[in-house]
Amino acid sequence: MARIIGGLAVSHTPTIGFAVDHNKQEEAAWAPIFKDFEPIKAWLDEHKPDVLFYIFNDHVTSFFFDHYSAFCLGVDERYEVADEGGGVRALPAIGGHAELSRHIGRSLMADEFDMAFFRDKPIDHGLFSPMSALLPFDTEWPVQVVPLHVGVLQFPIPSAARCYKLGQALRRAIESFPEDLKVAVVATGGVSHQVHGERCGFNNPEWDAQFLDLLVNDPQRLTEITLAEYAELGGMEGSEVITWLIMRGALSANVIKRHEGYYLPSMTGIATLVLENQARDVPVDLLARHREHIDHQLKGVEKLPGTYPFTLERSHKGYRLNRFLHQMIVPTWRERFLADPEALFEEARLSEQERDLVRRRDWLGLLQYGVIFFLLEKLGAVTGVSNLHIYAAFRGLSLEDFQKTRNQQVLYSVAGKR
Ligand code: FE2
Repeated sequence: MARIIGGLAVSHTPTIGFAVDHNKQEEAAWAPIFKDFEPIKAWLDEHKPDVLFYIFNDHVTSFFFDHYSAFCLGVDERYEVADEGGGVRALPAIGGHAELSRHIGRSLMADEFDMAFFRDKPIDHGLFSPMSALLPFDTEWPVQVVPLHVGVLQFPIPSAARCYKLGQALRRAIESFPEDLKVAVVATGGVSHQVHGERCGFNNPEWDAQFLDLLVNDPQRLTEITLAEYAELGGMEGSEVITWLIMRGALSANVIKRHEGYYLPSMTGIATLVLENQARDVPVDLLARHREHIDHQLKGVEKLPGTYPFTLERSHKGYRLNRFLHQMIVPTWRERFLADPEALFEEARLSEQERDLVRRRDWLGLLQYGVIFFLLEKLGAVTGVSNLHIYAAFRGLSLEDFQKTRNQQVLYSVAGKR
């Protein structure tokens, strides 16, 4: 059974990564940051979590406003380090516990949080800035992560209350994962700060102290504060601390505080916190009941013959091939595909099985492999195959015989006029 062993809170200011990269940990201005990190490092070293559930917000690096989500859960096996404008930091990519991610995703959706999911996206300083100061890395990291990006930059954003509720649902999600895993929940973000406008440079250490006390001892109270009130108290960007309520919501009501630190060097209050979970058992199998709840909506779908719900598992397995086919929406890509498919297979590093399925236009085989239907119809449009041909192939019928099962015998595809 997965267990939540504790909650950590750290700032994710890029200052930290900068100081690590330039070996400034000992310099007077930076040293207090790293001194405050020591108890967290020691805690991580002592308790050795297998997975960090890592709550962060991206800074318009990998998540742009063409499609912005409130709660976006990483479901990948590996996350690269993002280039934020000055080149990629010399850090290894970090492994993701994709199976735990998928379980958490299904559980949160079952609990009516409408999650977004991401993969194949590099992650910025929101995650890697504190990581690089807290854990040893050389060629690899000693933990896996499940990252949660919270979109706090473009309003409307989730309320403090919503974040806290998400945390409570996260607890059920993690605890119901059947594998034995030690999980720590990490919240990141600066406490009071504002980095834009005429009010830039605003800080409020008194409020920061009060916020930390409330977070530990009376988090429910913090859910009653509005985003405007958070901005007034802690600066507009400081209101990202509402995401710390996700971490707190995932912990038991009572926690043991192992460490608290605070330092305000320049623009952003850097607070650190280590909370140990004090979860108790009850003599009722709550987790089995929750697993049934998670499975409830799709229970029985496996009995429908010839039906392949496009789950996170299928999406994961078919991702490379789906990505290849998705690019058929780009005219130059499909021209290159038609002119020299083998070169494109090679460039996209498709496996031999994937190449073979595409070469043979094995429509049912592609679908069973993990390609979603709506990319098959794009491949059909590019190669001059109508949707009806694809449907007939699924059913193992000739086009003529399939058409006999329809009220009208029409042919169509998603191809444009050309
Ligand atoms: Fe931030």
